[in-house]
Amino acid sequence: MDPSSRPKLFDFHGVSMTNIFTDNWENIQNFQARPDDILIATYPKAGTTWISQILDMLYFGQESPERLTSLPIYERVPFLEMTIPNLVSGKDQADNLPTTPRLIKTHFPVQFVPKSFWEQNCRIIYVARNAKDNLVSFYHFARMNKAQPEAGDWNSFFQRFLEGKMVFGSWYEHVNGWWKKKQTYSKIHYMLYENMIEDTGREIDKLCNFIGLSPSAEVKEMVRSGVQFDNMKKNKMANYSTLPIMDFKVSPFMRKGKVGDWKNYFTVAQNEAFDEDYKRKMKDSPLQFRFEF
Ligand code: A3P
Repeated sequence: MDPSSRPKLFDFHGVSMTNIFTDNWENIQNFQARPDDILIATYPKAGTTWISQILDMLYFGQESPERLTSLPIYERVPFLEMTIPNLVSGKDQADNLPTTPRLIKTHFPVQFVPKSFWEQNCRIIYVARNAKDNLVSFYHFARMNKAQPEAGDWNSFFQRFLEGKMVFGSWYEHVNGWWKKKQTYSKIHYMLYENMIEDTGREIDKLCNFIGLSPSAEVKEMVRSGVQFDNMKKNKMANYSTLPIMDFKVSPFMRKGKVGDWKNYFTVAQNEAFDEDYKRKMKDSPLQFRFEF
């Protein structure tokens, strides 16, 4: 695909978006959530696939293990706002999910979430990742994913991240907007990617507590080991290798799965500029991220 055919960013209700996430806007806004639906919400590249695989294994790993080996993650956990011409939309996929609960993914900033999720009092799992690693991961994703606007070189991508000119807008507004919502809507479980890396088992326990599941030690261990980075990287039903819009020769989807990879990309000058800008944008935020261990 030549760069000129990549989608273009435009301002949509104050958020940078591309048409594949806005074309079906009315229908998506009218999505009918059910009380037992689980919404997985993230800024892109914060660990969406990881948490999706965890939840799918927790709910269905015992009851219908064939799901996990026969259906790619993007069919088991539809991407609500994704609308690619000639392909079934994420909204239609979600409407027709046969499972209970339905696991549904969104990258929407909180103000774009269809109102039925709030009305039905659905459980929502939000995962946030430190901005520096999130940015590096997004850069590689934009390079390899033909449905993303052209990434450009590292320096220009870096600048655009600071300006919030990414698909789904500003990282700062996303993580803070969802955090703010959690203060008034109790059914948001706010997770950090770095905590998952530090102790996946502990975070799975907290997640189970939130969703009201009490898996046996054996099931928990099956999930914990099934979602280890190396296992997910080689799992064709979790690693996106079946999706033709992604060019794995440019970068794999499961790239490094680490905290602190940003140090391999940020120059000293970029790091100083980033930190200064970060301090300003996050000065009123109680969110604390770890950038390394
Ligand atoms: P990197 O590009 O830094 O490797 P998303 O699913 O939201 O698109 O996020 C993708 C990022 O999560 C990628 O980060 C990917 O490698 C990482 N990831 C996916 N599964 C993981 C796992 N099991 N453990 C750690 N990181 C994982």
